Amino acid sequence: MLRIEDGQTIRLEDYRPTDFILHCVDMTVRLFEGRAEIDTRLVLERREGVAEDAPLVLDGDELTLTGLALDGAVLEADAYTATPDRLTIRQAPARDRFLLDIATRTVPEENTKLMGLYRSNGIWCTQCEAEGFRRITYFLDRPDVLAPYRVRIEADRTAAPVLLSNGNPTESGDLGDGRHYAVWDDPFNKPAYLFALVAGDLDSIREPFTTASGKPVELAVYTEKGRAGQAGYAMDALKRSMVWDERRFGREYDLDVFNIVAIADFNMGAMENKGLNVFNHKYVLLDPQTATDADYAGVETVIAHEYFHNWTGNRITCRDWFQLCLKEGLTVYRDQEFSADERSATVQRIGAVRRLKAHQFPEDQGPLQHPVRPTEYKEINNFYTATIYDKGAEIVRMLATILGEDGFRKGMDLYFERHDGDAATIEDYLACFEAATGVDLSHLAVWYNQAGTPTLSVHEDYDAGTDRLTVTLRQSLEPGAAGTRTDPVHIPIRFGLVGSNGQDKDAVPTQGPDVEGDVIHLTEAETTLVFENLGERPYLSILRDFSAPVNLDFAQSEADRLALARLDPNLFNRWSVLNDLIGEAMVRACRAGGKETASPLPAEIVDAVLATAADPALEPAFRAQALALPAEPDVARMLGRDVDPQIVHDVVDAARRAISTAGVQVFERLAAEMATVQAFSPDAESAGRRALANAALAYLTAATNDPAAAEAQYASASNMTDRLAALGILVHRFPDAPASQAALDDFYRRFETDELVLDKWFALQATVPRPATLETVIALTGHARFSMRNPNRVRAVIGTFAAGNQLAFHRPDGAGYRWVAERLVELDRLNPQIAARIATTFRSWRSFEPTRRGQAEATLRQLLETEHLSTDLGDILGRSLK
Ligand code: PHE
Ligand code: ZN
Repeated sequence: MLRIEDGQTIRLEDYRPTDFILHCVDMTVRLFEGRAEIDTRLVLERREGVAEDAPLVLDGDELTLTGLALDGAVLEADAYTATPDRLTIRQAPARDRFLLDIATRTVPEENTKLMGLYRSNGIWCTQCEAEGFRRITYFLDRPDVLAPYRVRIEADRTAAPVLLSNGNPTESGDLGDGRHYAVWDDPFNKPAYLFALVAGDLDSIREPFTTASGKPVELAVYTEKGRAGQAGYAMDALKRSMVWDERRFGREYDLDVFNIVAIADFNMGAMENKGLNVFNHKYVLLDPQTATDADYAGVETVIAHEYFHNWTGNRITCRDWFQLCLKEGLTVYRDQEFSADERSATVQRIGAVRRLKAHQFPEDQGPLQHPVRPTEYKEINNFYTATIYDKGAEIVRMLATILGEDGFRKGMDLYFERHDGDAATIEDYLACFEAATGVDLSHLAVWYNQAGTPTLSVHEDYDAGTDRLTVTLRQSLEPGAAGTRTDPVHIPIRFGLVGSNGQDKDAVPTQGPDVEGDVIHLTEAETTLVFENLGERPYLSILRDFSAPVNLDFAQSEADRLALARLDPNLFNRWSVLNDLIGEAMVRACRAGGKETASPLPAEIVDAVLATAADPALEPAFRAQALALPAEPDVARMLGRDVDPQIVHDVVDAARRAISTAGVQVFERLAAEMATVQAFSPDAESAGRRALANAALAYLTAATNDPAAAEAQYASASNMTDRLAALGILVHRFPDAPASQAALDDFYRRFETDELVLDKWFALQATVPRPATLETVIALTGHARFSMRNPNRVRAVIGTFAAGNQLAFHRPDGAGYRWVAERLVELDRLNPQIAARIATTFRSWRSFEPTRRGQAEATLRQLLETEHLSTDLGDILGRSLK
């Protein structure tokens, strides 16, 4: 076991294998109303070299032991100690394999933490990552303990006609008394966090699939009664994911069945249990009337992500939880690549970079920062973060950029070959790429160990007389809360020298090392490159496709950036130079106190935005991205300190108005051109047209200051994307207009029976940008359909309020902070994981102006004083105040 000290800090350096080896697991789970009986038989063996008197210690969590036998003999009371969170067997056999039979009993109906075995709308289901299996039975509950499982489920046939677990179904039958059973066999070794069981009265859709090598697989998506008609797109996304992984990575599926179950109460998005993925139903259930284009894209991504885990996570898992990014960063990279291939690569990359900067950058620049591979934790649940997932994916992306497509594929092939069946580490992973390509990755490896966002400073100097361009690149990293080192890392910088004709020049430096094709490899603190014989001063297009997760510090002239926004052959950079120009102008306006908010955006920038939006040569989805301004939290992050949310709001609002008044004609034309008459199709191209049309509508209503057009679209909309866009404009921009309240009421009546749409109704009201929204959310938590027990609903009201309503959450009177803190105390008693997650919305408290900062600190300190705080919430609060 890992040594536990300092209260309960777990440290990477303390890792050592278990004293006992687990050979196989055989379980019988009997489900009844109000209780579950779990019989577990383990085949164990003392590891060679372990002292003969070392006890066998198994993990538990809130467990009740009802029986215990060793090699068939009931254990005497003095032979073991059982507490709710530990089972210690003093004398386990010294040499031979032995059988341990453990009986436990739980009450799934009372399990509000949604970890272990619980019931959601009558359906029995499990969630075991990271440490939930120990809430079902005593176990060596850690990812490096792998075994094959055989699982027998018994339940009432009416309550649970469907009985599912991991692996392949092998047997089923009747038990009399209205009960029945099913047996599942999972031949692949797996850690307990990948265990799953589902039992209930479910509907399903099924489809056959044949893998590239001809193996037939039966695919199924299970839903609550009456919802299977909404699972078709998820099934389609699953099949496309399976084909893609065969083509792109040569990975085939390995069992006879692959099952997905959609569940209403779920802490996270979804879970990759072997052969039995369990999903938050938000990432499965869809139809045009109830789901937006963003929902479709989300389902596609999450379905792919969980499926891809079958190889990156399941066949090769993590040695310990410090290696979490080994499966998560890599699998996010894979799902991003999938979406890039299925949709527009540029638009997908813009979305990923926006999310990285909105979620990971503030985490990395605040008190909750941690390296992608942490070295210690108090509560692993708090490490399912943007840093592990998204910065982890960025490191894999840099690896692919450094090695090129072929080298990267060779390394991945070797990884699958070498480590199939293993619980591996980051070192194991990187060693495969070094072995396959011979490239030195020591400077890339440093990214895993250092927290914080490096700054990449760029300086250019063109000498017309000699026709020489000198580019100086410098990297630096500020020490932060994690206290990790600040050594130089390998930063792959994709670049181009763009000529006035819009074409890249041949850019081979005459001085300066380490340029391969269009990638500069910066591995030192500083380097200088010289380019000659350019014929003219080129525009430097740097960090194309955001080839490294850094803060770019480049005082490039506005004229050059406006030229690149028009000319750059790299479309991602056309967006990023423009977006940066807008962001910087907003920051300047905020620093000036928001006084000159008449137009925070210079006319040339407004013109560039409008020109991009109007350019028929560009795809509509990209043009819609150009129109999407930095959001209020983005501006707050760029400001960095003494943020006044009211000023930020006013500046963003003024920028929107500046674009809207200058662009009335453009937007009128776009609204007409992009209006679709064909039947709804969720494909990326159609979604892009809707995105552009709805952006145009938002600007038009801002220009006229008249909600009529939004009201009309709300009434006539034929799909949720258009309906919700119109409702959003009404409720957020015209909150007091009678039409807005009427539309909200209509929306509620139309979709009253659909929990996922109700979440949209709640979230929209919680994000109305004005301080008084606090009173609205207080009322919403009293609404008959609000529940503290459904994580989606809690996130829709409290989560979106704290994360997405900067004006109201950060009210100067501190009332927003105090209200959220009170809800956290309530929530912590029911579901600490969700409480801890929402508490992270306080993380940037130090960046606000003194009044708010003081209010936030006082609230956090008081919250930390609460008695019986969970480890989850206590950990987040403690670190936030550090
Ligand atoms: N492993 C899941 C995923 O990323 C996320 C998850 C973590 C789900 C913990 C549940 C609990 O795909
Ligand atoms: Zn994952």
